[in-house]
Amino acid sequence: MEASAIIKRRRAAAGLDLFRNIAAGLGLALLCAGCAELTIAWAPLKPKGEAARPPIAAAASAEEWERTRAPRLRALLEKNVYGRMPDASRTEVVERHLIDAEAFGGRATYEEVRFRPTAIYNDVAATAPGDDLIMALVTPAKGQGPFPVILMETFCARWSAAPHPAATGAEEDREMGGVLGAVATYVFGRFICTPPYDAILDAGYAVAVMHPGDLVPDSAAAGPAALSALSAGHRDEATRWGAIAAWGWLYSRAIDALSDDPRIDPDGYILWGHSRYGKAGLVAAAFDPRVDAVISHQSGTGGASLNWDKPGESVGAIIDSYPHWFARAYAGLAAASDGDGARPEVDQHMLLALAAPRPILLGNARRDVWSDPNGAFRAAQGAAPGYAAYGLKGLAQEDLRGFEPGADIAYWLRSGTHGVVEEDWPAFLSFLDAHFKTGATGTPDN
Ligand code: GCU
Repeated sequence: MEASAIIKRRRAAAGLDLFRNIAAGLGLALLCAGCAELTIAWAPLKPKGEAARPPIAAAASAEEWERTRAPRLRALLEKNVYGRMPDASRTEVVERHLIDAEAFGGRATYEEVRFRPTAIYNDVAATAPGDDLIMALVTPAKGQGPFPVILMETFCARWSAAPHPAATGAEEDREMGGVLGAVATYVFGRFICTPPYDAILDAGYAVAVMHPGDLVPDSAAAGPAALSALSAGHRDEATRWGAIAAWGWLYSRAIDALSDDPRIDPDGYILWGHSRYGKAGLVAAAFDPRVDAVISHQSGTGGASLNWDKPGESVGAIIDSYPHWFARAYAGLAAASDGDGARPEVDQHMLLALAAPRPILLGNARRDVWSDPNGAFRAAQGAAPGYAAYGLKGLAQEDLRGFEPGADIAYWLRSGTHGVVEEDWPAFLSFLDAHFKTGATGTPDN
């Protein structure tokens, strides 16, 4: 396909994705105007409900955890929730393109990295259908480096999550007068699309941004074809991967694409994702040891929150609304958590345990009961054996308040609802500073 046609199609798809997401968000908010989970309900501040089950067996050592326990948990999550991850993968960097050496008021270099990821199942290699992907890479202009990098997957188009007038596709925003971004910001908070670059760059972090819909469209109609094409060598429909797994895998392909860049700290791959991409970030950490930390904000059902004994979004509800996100097998958990079947052998505390020993931040809002902050807290408690295998504590707080940014599992709860608001980024940066500021890397020199 001609490059211009590809760019045109991308633009249309990304504009449509953003539009669909906003429309879905508004629709949901309206539908639930009387619905307690999104409006007036409050998450209790102390853990309430059953502890995460089944408990994770303690390992005597990190070696035992990695050799026996962790692979078993990964297999359970693949089989019951996310679907099978590729047997192997590779990523070709097609082009690096400098957009601006003095972006963000001279604070950063802005580049685009075009890359082509390939998934391999049963020796069948498949590349994402269609076009190469583009990642925006924003690197601090000041400071020594190498810089830890915050890898972001977002709802918004790449050029709106990493704004620059010369970014590929940026005309789309100009054509639409920025209206959609303004609506998203009004509904889901000031930082839903664009993070606070000045604060992030001044703190010494690079940022890399991708739009996951470019790999697998976030649509029940179009998503499955892309998922099947990428996993052509996998024959079992019940365990074919869903979009959450594929978007998680995309974070890892971005790490591949950045791994020979000397400006990026190889011990500083930090994944950031909100909501559905918060789920994907946790999946990436569970399956890729190169991930160094995750900020998983309001990831909810299929992310940090427990599947069993939950307020908010049930497993049945998420499958009905987003059938393309998970393996078909996840429906088995829906039946069980509705009381129609045996208690499942898997729950989301296992996903959190697989992040150990790496730090994770679980972001929550007290009135975002749809995402079940209390279930995320109990999942974090249940993940302790994973961290204990490395002599670490995991969660370091007794209730949902009392944020400890330096904890292995930092649990952040603010007031308010679903979105990325003013208070969130200072909390995210304090978590990152607690874990990545050694004074040696990434610190600006003035
Ligand atoms: C919906 C969905 C959630 C998801 C959220 C989001 O509300 O039900 O599971 O986390 O969208 O991605 O914003």
